[in-house]
Amino acid sequence: MSAPKKLFIKTYGCQMNVYDSERMAEALGGEGYVETKSADDADMILLNTCHIREKAAEKVYSELGRFKGLKAEKPDLKIGVAGCVAQAEGEEIMRRQPLVDLVVGPQSYHRLPEMEAKAREGEKVLDTDFPEEDKFEKLKNRPKAKRGPTAFLTVQEGCDKFCAFCVVPYTRGAEVSRPADRIVREAQDLVERGVREITLLGQNVNAYHGAGPNGDLTLAQLIWDLDKIDGLERIRFTTSHPNDMQDDLIEAHGTCAKLMPYLHLPVQAGSDKILKRMNRSHTAESYIRLIERIRAARPDILISGDFIVGFPEETEEDFQATLDLVEEVKYGTAYSFKYSTRPGTPAAERAQVDPAAADDRLQRLQALLTKQQREVQDSMVGREVGVLFEKAGRLPGQMVGKSDYLHAVHVADCNRQVGDLARVRIVSSGANSLAGELID
Ligand code: SAH
Ligand code: SF4
Ligand code: F3S
Repeated sequence: MSAPKKLFIKTYGCQMNVYDSERMAEALGGEGYVETKSADDADMILLNTCHIREKAAEKVYSELGRFKGLKAEKPDLKIGVAGCVAQAEGEEIMRRQPLVDLVVGPQSYHRLPEMEAKAREGEKVLDTDFPEEDKFEKLKNRPKAKRGPTAFLTVQEGCDKFCAFCVVPYTRGAEVSRPADRIVREAQDLVERGVREITLLGQNVNAYHGAGPNGDLTLAQLIWDLDKIDGLERIRFTTSHPNDMQDDLIEAHGTCAKLMPYLHLPVQAGSDKILKRMNRSHTAESYIRLIERIRAARPDILISGDFIVGFPEETEEDFQATLDLVEEVKYGTAYSFKYSTRPGTPAAERAQVDPAAADDRLQRLQALLTKQQREVQDSMVGREVGVLFEKAGRLPGQMVGKSDYLHAVHVADCNRQVGDLARVRIVSSGANSLAGELID
């Protein structure tokens, strides 16, 4: 038997890309590829790319340039670009970087084996279709390795919201939900392979409406179906849109013990004028009322958010409204970005904010968010939380895991294994993590 071919995948962007990279590795696993952690000994390199901000897309080209020497040494090396840059730029990638043999959009990963075979014959291959078939169904029945305790599971893909700044509706296509029975089967399979915590993924995950036995299911109904799986201990989901936060999902946060008290609910901005121009179709007030309802159902829930500063036409007063909203909500964690112009999106045509002003706003917002994050983390000291252990710590006998609220927690003298869930009392709060002790 010939030696297995080696595959190096580098993943950028969101969790959905992480999930997709695993599926691509499985698809090519069926063709005799094993994964390697180094590009230097690979027979095939795949960059799974992100197009969300300009810098993310540019990184891809600089990374590709670095493979020039490698390809000169190893003419059989195949280089592929997958993900959202592949979808957005298609053939342009091969024109700009002739090293690239293969370009595959996020909806075509199940066709990778055929594409790889063509590339091996020296063809340049491109597939950025949005085919009708369920790519995940086509990708099942691949070799099944043992897994770590946490996993992502895509339940919904694409987006119909068309926020004025965002490329996702163009790169991931229209919103599609996978049927519930397939998701439940995949979750069962993950649990059999050692997974204890599943994060359900979708660009608009709470808009989930996949087919069930008696009509479409809501995300909350899907979560209740998954709740029945023995051995599955924790369920999370991301990312949600405020307008799709239905009553049954809010209620599930209060009643479903496996559903973790953590919610990523991006708001983007606090000024109604800007929200309107962003096409967000919610107001600052409606978002704050929504957070109140969620906290009424689950008082300890940790709220996470996304923010954009320097969106076209944002004034200092508009930005102040974002700071006011943050003060009111109190975020446990958040991601904030300077607006990045994406060609082809409506906001790209509008009057841009002075970059220095946008930088200054980003710094002020991040200072406030970091302070809040720290306060929320510190408030965990003295509390009892669940911790799912994910790996051994750096010190002997130490284990590291994530709390119900997704904080990293270190436990010294810990006689538990990776994959164990334990009750832990938090004793101190460090720069980026908590320390705790087991409660027997
Ligand atoms: N589907 C998710 C997130 C998509 S992208 C949602 O709807 O919330 C993740 C985050 O990137 C967004 O929430 C937004 O804050 C940020 N983002 C998207 N497009 C951007 C752009 N053009 N410039 C800066 N940040 C952007
Ligand atoms: Fe992008 Fe808006 Fe869709 Fe989120 S809801 S993916 S920000 S268009
Ligand atoms: Fe990036 Fe595509 Fe995800 S643009 S954030 S990889 S959906």
